[in-house]
Amino acid sequence: MRVLCLGGGPAGLYLALLLKRSDPRHVVRVVERNKPGDTFGWGVVFSDQTLGNLEAADRETANEIAGAFNHWDDIDVHFRGRTITSGGHGFCGIGRMRLIEILVRRCEALGVELAFSTDVTDDEAAAREFGADLVIAADGINSRVRAKYAATFQPDVDLRRCRFVWLGTKKLFKAFTFAFEKTEHGWFQAHAYQYDGDTSTFIVETPEEVWQRAGLEAMSQEEGIAFCERLFARYLGGNALLSNAKHLRGSAIWIRFPRVICRTWTHWNEADGRRVPVVLLGDAAHTAHFSIGSGTKLAFEDGIALVRALEAHPRDLPAALARYEAERSVEVLKIQNAARNSTEWFENVERYTALEAEQFAYSLLTRSQRISHENLRVRDHGYVERVESWFAQRASLPAKAVPPMFTPLSLRGLTLGNRVVVSPMAQYSCVGGTPDDYYLVHLGSRAHGGAALVFTEMVCPSADARISPGCAGMYEDAHRAAWRRIVDYVHSRTPAKIALQLGHAGPKGSTQRGWEAADEPLPERGDPATGERNWPLIAPSALAYGPTNQVPRAMTRADMDRVKAEFVLAARWGAECGFDWLELHCAHGYLLSAFICPLTNRRDDEYGGGLANRCRYPLEVFRALREAWPRERPMSVRISAHDWAPGGNTPADAVEIARLFKAAGCDLIDVSSGQTTRDAQPVYGRMYQTPFADRIRNEVGIATMAVGAIFEPDHVNSIVMAGRADLCAIARPHLADPYWTLHAAAQLGYGDVPWPAQYLSGKAQLERNLARAKAMADERPEANG
Ligand SMILES: Cc1cc2nc3c(=O)[nH]c(=O)nc-3n(C[C@H](O)[C@H](O)[C@H](O)COP(=O)(O)OP(=O)(O)OC[C@H]3O[C@@H](n4cnc5c(N)ncnc54)[C@H](O)[C@@H]3O)c2cc1C
Ligand SMILES: Cc1cc2nc3c(=O)[nH]c(=O)nc-3n(C[C@H](O)[C@H](O)[C@H](O)COP(=O)(O)O)c2cc1C
Repeated sequence: MRVLCLGGGPAGLYLALLLKRSDPRHVVRVVERNKPGDTFGWGVVFSDQTLGNLEAADRETANEIAGAFNHWDDIDVHFRGRTITSGGHGFCGIGRMRLIEILVRRCEALGVELAFSTDVTDDEAAAREFGADLVIAADGINSRVRAKYAATFQPDVDLRRCRFVWLGTKKLFKAFTFAFEKTEHGWFQAHAYQYDGDTSTFIVETPEEVWQRAGLEAMSQEEGIAFCERLFARYLGGNALLSNAKHLRGSAIWIRFPRVICRTWTHWNEADGRRVPVVLLGDAAHTAHFSIGSGTKLAFEDGIALVRALEAHPRDLPAALARYEAERSVEVLKIQNAARNSTEWFENVERYTALEAEQFAYSLLTRSQRISHENLRVRDHGYVERVESWFAQRASLPAKAVPPMFTPLSLRGLTLGNRVVVSPMAQYSCVGGTPDDYYLVHLGSRAHGGAALVFTEMVCPSADARISPGCAGMYEDAHRAAWRRIVDYVHSRTPAKIALQLGHAGPKGSTQRGWEAADEPLPERGDPATGERNWPLIAPSALAYGPTNQVPRAMTRADMDRVKAEFVLAARWGAECGFDWLELHCAHGYLLSAFICPLTNRRDDEYGGGLANRCRYPLEVFRALREAWPRERPMSVRISAHDWAPGGNTPADAVEIARLFKAAGCDLIDVSSGQTTRDAQPVYGRMYQTPFADRIRNEVGIATMAVGAIFEPDHVNSIVMAGRADLCAIARPHLADPYWTLHAAAQLGYGDVPWPAQYLSGKAQLERNLARAKAMADERPEANG
């Protein structure tokens, strides 16, 4: 096969050498516009794991690269005059120039044709002239080929918010170094690491608006570098910052990172009656932000996958390319997801600067949500012990390492024993709104299970506020008595606290139970269990939730007064019952959420229009409840922080919503998302709503509760320790296991959590069995075994 590779960066060169290695009969030519040794950039980093992949693909190159590597383990975070060090990170750095030299030499040894100083302006002419069977577009981040065939590749290029410059220095950074410096214009950060015997990479980064305010756009290249030298002088020890981009004028060395994704990776051309594919590789196909150091890794792994696909389908190029694209696009997506979190963290450093150095550094280390608390412990046990003990002290415990989820939290007059909450979950099992013995057992057993706070489901202040005929109420004496019995049980027999969630279903009312046709109206003949028929609905606007749902009546001011009074009475009764905490449900498309969401609120009075207007009625209800609710007991609000639909609320709106509730006296925002419109397209994943809780907590300065796909103790520890949220609400895992928290403690080897005295022998056995299983897993069989 004749393969023409456009671009002699890491992607093109590595693919070329792997192709020749795979089959020396291939004729492979790499065309590179630069002269040999004429390459931009300083060092690049790889993880230890990437090196392993390279070794499997071509041992010679891997050995040479490994020999030229500078290896380090520590990460130093410098913030507000403090340095936080954590170890065990296992990275290698190599000069980009050195890397290219190694690849070029290996290409030459294997017989790859290399054409330097050749700028390809017409890929089709070059392919024809070479007689190519396959053209590889490895022409980098600004790929000309990608632009030419944009209709096929459908690139999505997202220019990110920060400006950065890639510099070098003779200062040798022994650890991977992150340094943060505040100027009168805003924060700047440096990412620095040593990559050979006498040079380090030094990348300086700041948001576009800070860069503008600091006047860097108008500065010459030299002035801009001098600015960075002054700003980071304390880390440079008198060494200069160096640029090897002398060909760029003025501030052009400062760029915004383009995040590139392509819908497809192969374009077919006609050449002399033959169909010749042009295939994207490396940065031309995708990019991953430099803060996770994976660009070159991805470029190399693309090459490895493409050669394997060609070997697997030697006589079927379309099949080989389809396999390459299918395999790599999934891998790239995973890295890009991690890279997105990391990019956003660095774009929003300002958000985290109110954190103390310990928590700031931890938030940085776990920013991608891929490195967790336990991952950090494996890397550096001592570091995790130190931050755990710092965190425990902050939570008024003795300075001793404690899993962060088992530290107390106080709000107003209430102290919760740990950070785990049983999230509100409708059980649809009341008759006439009364929670019966099922609820006593259901909530009671979860209160025995170790969570510090157990939520009721959404409890409705009137019959027409219910979602379904099985929903719980707080509008009849019988309801009040039944709730009091449950609260008394929790208080007298368990260490847990219990929270009341009040909500009105609004346009999503009068529907079937969760396990029937959820969100759909009751059948014509009525509710199968009780025969109850559909009841009329109210909402901010006369908009049905879906094609089969009832069209609600738009609320009048009289309706608003009635509903508010019903909420207030329910809250008063809740206080009388002894509930420790009150939450107002303003999420998931129910009545108050429907006011806040612009897709369901089309009013043209003072309760519709802009965000402040849309929040007006929910805030009015909240304030009335705050008045009625005892001062020493906390109140929270659950919001949908993202409507996941065009024209809906976004996480930026959620920050404003949280600000308004904070001003009205709210103690904590319970950060959920979605369910406000049937058109929503949520992006699910582990802890997928936690970034919204993080943003609200750290931008607004209010406690938050994270919820959504938090299902491991490790998730809770990481979220709480990083200051992404103060509490974690866990829903479905508590349906599977009422004792989720007690089991989590045993799993973490933390014995100091109170179990019911009646169950202590179960605790002892569980702990013993887990310790034994761990010891067996840790045991290394003897060689002769
Ligand atoms: C600031 C910064 C820091 C980075 N740090 C890291 C890191 O630590 N670790 C890491 O793995 N990655 C890092 N990267 C990313 C890494 O540099 C790229 O992901 C990697 O170089 C991709 O390789 P490539 O071969 O696809 O593209 P490139 O390296 O850009 O190579 C493309 C080549 O094509 C040539 N070319 C382009 N057009 C033509 C044409 N028309 N004719 C002929 N030749 C052409 C170019 O001259 C170039 O040599 C960093 C990137 C930046 C910007
Ligand atoms: C059966 C069930 C009922 C729910 N009922 C409520 C509810 O009454 N009020 C509420 O705010 N959220 C309710 N939710 C949402 C959960 O509180 C939680 O936000 C969601 O399930 C995501 O958390 P998870 O991934 O831990 O399950 C319910 C969820 C489930 C599974």
